[in-house]
Order: sequence, then C-alpha cells, then structure tokens
Amino acid sequence: MGQGDDQGVAGDGGTPLPDEIAADNAEQGGAWNGDDGRYWVQHRERQEARYRRLTPHLMAAAGIQADSRVLDIGCGSGGTSLEAARAAAEGAVLGVDVSAPMLAEARKQAAGSGLPQVTFERGDAQVHRFEDGAFDIAISRFGVMFFADPEAAFANIARALRPGGQLAFLCWRSVRDNPYLTVPMGAIAPYVQLPELEAPGAPGPFSLVDTDRIEKLLDSAGFDEITISAVDEPMWMGTDPDDVVAYQLGIPASRAMLAEASAEARAKTETALRDALAEHQGPDGVTLGSAAWLVTARRR
Ligand SMILES: C[S@@+](CC[C@H](N)C(=O)[O-])C[C@H]1O[C@@H](n2cnc3c(N)ncnc32)[C@H](O)[C@@H]1O
Repeated sequence: MGQGDDQGVAGDGGTPLPDEIAADNAEQGGAWNGDDGRYWVQHRERQEARYRRLTPHLMAAAGIQADSRVLDIGCGSGGTSLEAARAAAEGAVLGVDVSAPMLAEARKQAAGSGLPQVTFERGDAQVHRFEDGAFDIAISRFGVMFFADPEAAFANIARALRPGGQLAFLCWRSVRDNPYLTVPMGAIAPYVQLPELEAPGAPGPFSLVDTDRIEKLLDSAGFDEITISAVDEPMWMGTDPDDVVAYQLGIPASRAMLAEASAEARAKTETALRDALAEHQGPDGVTLGSAAWLVTARRR
C-alpha cells in the first residue's frame, strides 16, 4: 500500500551501500538494500504476476534481436533480464541494480535458467561507469523513477548505448489513474494517515508521471524519436482478499503507517481493505486496474 508498493522506509540498516552510489541516491539505496528490497524478494513471484500483463508491452517496444546487447536498468530480482536473455540468445544482457538482496535473488534465478548470456552488476545507474556505446538496447520495468538526478542518470544511460541504440521503459502514471492504489487507499483513508505518494519531481514511483518532464529529460540526455504511450492493464493482486490484505499490510511502508494507528483503527483498516478487495475478486483472484507510460527513445 502507499508508496511501499514500490518503495518505502529508507536507511534501515540493511546491506551497506556500494562505494559508487551517488550521495543523493543514498536514501533510495538504503530502502532498496533494506526491508523494501527484502520484502520484494520474498514476494518475487507475486511481483512477476502483478506485472504479467504490463511486461509484454515493454518487451515488444524493446525489439530485442538474437544478437542484441541489452542493459536492464534497476533490474531488481532479474525477471526482465532473464526474459531479455531468452530473446537475445546469442547476445548479452547486463542487469544493474543498487539492491544487494534483489541482485542475489536475480543471480539465483539466472543460475538455474540455462542463460549464461545474462550477468548482473551492483551499481547506481545514475553514475555507474558503463563502457561507452556498449549496448544496443536499454530497458527498464519501473526502475528509472528513483534517481535523485534524472538528468545525469538518463545522460549516463545514453552514453552506455551506441548511437541509434534503443531505450524502452515502463514508468507509472499518476496515482489517481491507478485503481490498484486508489481502491485500497480509498478504503482505508478514513482510518489511517496516508503518506503523500506523488511529490512532483522527487525520486519515487511517481516521479515520471508528467510526460513533458519525460520528454525534456530524454531530449537533454541525448535521445530523440521519443514516444510516450499509455498502457492500461489489469493487475493481478493476489489469490483472494485475505492474501492481498496480508501482502499489502506487510509492506514496510504500510507497517510504518499502521504503527502510528490505534488497535481499533488497525482493525477497521483491515476490514475496510478486505471488503474493498472482495468487490474485485474474480475466478483467477483479485484484479485491479493499472496505468503506466511506455516510453521509447533512440540515442542520437
Ligand atoms: C520497482 S523496482 C523494479 C524492479 C524490476 N525492474 C522489476 O520489474 O521487477 C525498482 C528497482 O530499481 C532499483 N533502483 C532504484 N534506484 C536505482 C539506481 N539509482 N540505480 C539502479 N537501480 C536502482 C531498485 O533497487 C529496484 O530494484
């Protein structure tokens, strides 16, 4: 729930940050190396299922060929890196992420995959020293919204691509366009103090909701042929309301939010959430709408 669906409490004493992480990304780095990263790994299969309808849009836009060299930015536990590697059978895929627990999971998944062309490196994509022009394609599934300095980050990603190289990423549209957030948040709003999710320009899941900002960032980073299209897809939330409630209230940011609430408010929150989710139960589980931007661009 809340921002914690994608990111939550920072600097919680998790794995130490790599030396090269930009100082301004330390807060995000702390979150993804701490409880948030670990919770994400614990729910890796759920996350893949949540993104199941969105991922094919990214892969189609990326246009990966058998010999492509692909960079996966903010690769997390490696779902899209492995998918890219299946398409780039004779190429190479590098997944980069700041999160040690998520990369450990990515490497575990890769080890059993029979895809030796996929490798992972820990680093901050904003400052990581990629070899100039080493990649044909850069992809990201919701991994490019967390940069403190997105101008520097997208310029760094552009340098990693060869001239003419393709960028394709998914990022979230506004909170209000995303029923997977508004339905649960609307249900619990009477009982708890909800965090502010959409702080314009600040790093976080909703930092790229503004298409003018995306265009300006990419243009100044050295990209042209920029396209931004809306992707609206159902998001599978869990098997039944109890399953979703347990997941959502276990997110580190939700736990922090509920820690402030009275026992009565916590009980009401749980009931209201379960009731709201029950209205979206179908034969395959609980499903809510999601709204993303699919962005593509070409390095000049
Ligand atoms: C919402 S998760 C998405 C993970 C993965 N792409 C997926 O679809 O499962 C965002 C990811 O971005 C990573 N991340 C955040 N800031 C980053 C940075 N500056 N450089 C590299 N990775 C970053 C996080 O560690 C996290 O794994």
